[in-house]
Amino acid sequence: MGISREITGKLYDAAVKARMNSCSPYSEFKVGAAIVTQGGKIFSGCNIESSSFGLTMCAERNALSAALCAGERDFSAVLVVADTDKPVSPCGACRQLIYDYAPDITVIMANLKTETLDMKIKDMLKYPFGPCKS
Ligand code: THU
Repeated sequence: MGISREITGKLYDAAVKARMNSCSPYSEFKVGAAIVTQGGKIFSGCNIESSSFGLTMCAERNALSAALCAGERDFSAVLVVADTDKPVSPCGACRQLIYDYAPDITVIMANLKTETLDMKIKDMLKYPFGPCKS
């Protein structure tokens, strides 16, 4: 089943709001993300950059971590938004972590023009690492 327009709208609003808190002084590329549990709870995150660049954390992973830290385990969709021409696509590291905790999730890519593109994480990460999953 697809993600409803109502849930997509709520995720979009939460991600756009979270994006405003982006800490991205080095790239100046602000990203927001929001994830929804199967019960309808929404958690959000933004990208946080470090002066030691490799420590930078993406918005999607921060949103997922917030939900996991709150004890949530079952997710239906995650939305990521940035000011891009086409809907922004999650990086490989985020795809792996999303797949690890939510292999059936729908990823909604979005931009500030409210364009969206939905795809299953399974279709975005064809051969995921997973020692217990073969
Ligand atoms: N970034 C994200 O937040 N999510 C992604 O999927 C890719 C990139 C952030 C990391 C960094 O702060 C900025 O975008 C530029 O790479």
